[in-house]
Amino acid sequence: MKSSTHTDNQGFLYTNRTDKWWVEPLWTGFGFMCFVIYTTWAMFQANNYWWSGGQAGFGGYLSPFYSPLIFVKEAVAGGAPIEHSWFGSWPSWWPKLIPASPAILILAGPLSFRMTCYYYRKFYYRAYFMSPPGCSVKGVRNKQYKGETALLVFQNLHRFTLYLALGIILVLTYDAILSFFQGGRFGVGIGSIILTINPILLAGYTFGCHAFRHLTGGNKDCFTCPNGKPTFRYRIWKSVSWLNGRHMMWAWISMIWVAFTDIYVRMVASGYWVDINTWSN
Ligand code: FES
Repeated sequence: MKSSTHTDNQGFLYTNRTDKWWVEPLWTGFGFMCFVIYTTWAMFQANNYWWSGGQAGFGGYLSPFYSPLIFVKEAVAGGAPIEHSWFGSWPSWWPKLIPASPAILILAGPLSFRMTCYYYRKFYYRAYFMSPPGCSVKGVRNKQYKGETALLVFQNLHRFTLYLALGIILVLTYDAILSFFQGGRFGVGIGSIILTINPILLAGYTFGCHAFRHLTGGNKDCFTCPNGKPTFRYRIWKSVSWLNGRHMMWAWISMIWVAFTDIYVRMVASGYWVDINTWSN
């Protein structure tokens, strides 16, 4: 039987594996690259991120890439009204060369959570750094590699970015509620449903986080002590563990949906798509 242990004489990508091990790094690398390109474009657009059917007052659809609205630039096509901004109008000191986009101010928050996620690390180390490209496949030779203790020490911030992600879910839940109103009138539109699914999927991803699983039960040695009955905390930990076991699936679905939500709001705000809703009649 051949050994799967690599030696220095075996070249890059050497493996005894006979399955199509390269398919996963290929599609994950390509899929995430598409997401990054689209997100970057959408972030610099700075318009068509808001739609309220031309109604002033409470309610409207807000793209999740632009939420929360820290500052808002007024009189922008498809831009949010100033009342929805947390701190008022766009600051005058903002450099002219950088678009006045509310997304620029906040995207680092959710991105820092995603980029330090244990699952994302696994796939981008494989797909982009080839370090290694798959289990039991020879990766690029890197004698300097020191794990996540040197250059990549920032990955340990993941447990702190979790709190940021939990706050974002609250903000996006508020946006979902907002989407059921236009000009203060309650109603339902396709956009309301899309904006409501968004925080649900993000919650499925965030509550299955390894750091969250540790918070719910990582420091417990016994869930049934002292009387032998499973505690409430045990049930929470079991639910979180169920999500955790499907973390990759939640990561992809929630990421694709958040981009789709932005696309939907953008297309409706720019007039390419018509939102079917109860307000129009
Ligand atoms: S490990 Fe993936 S979100 Fe925390």
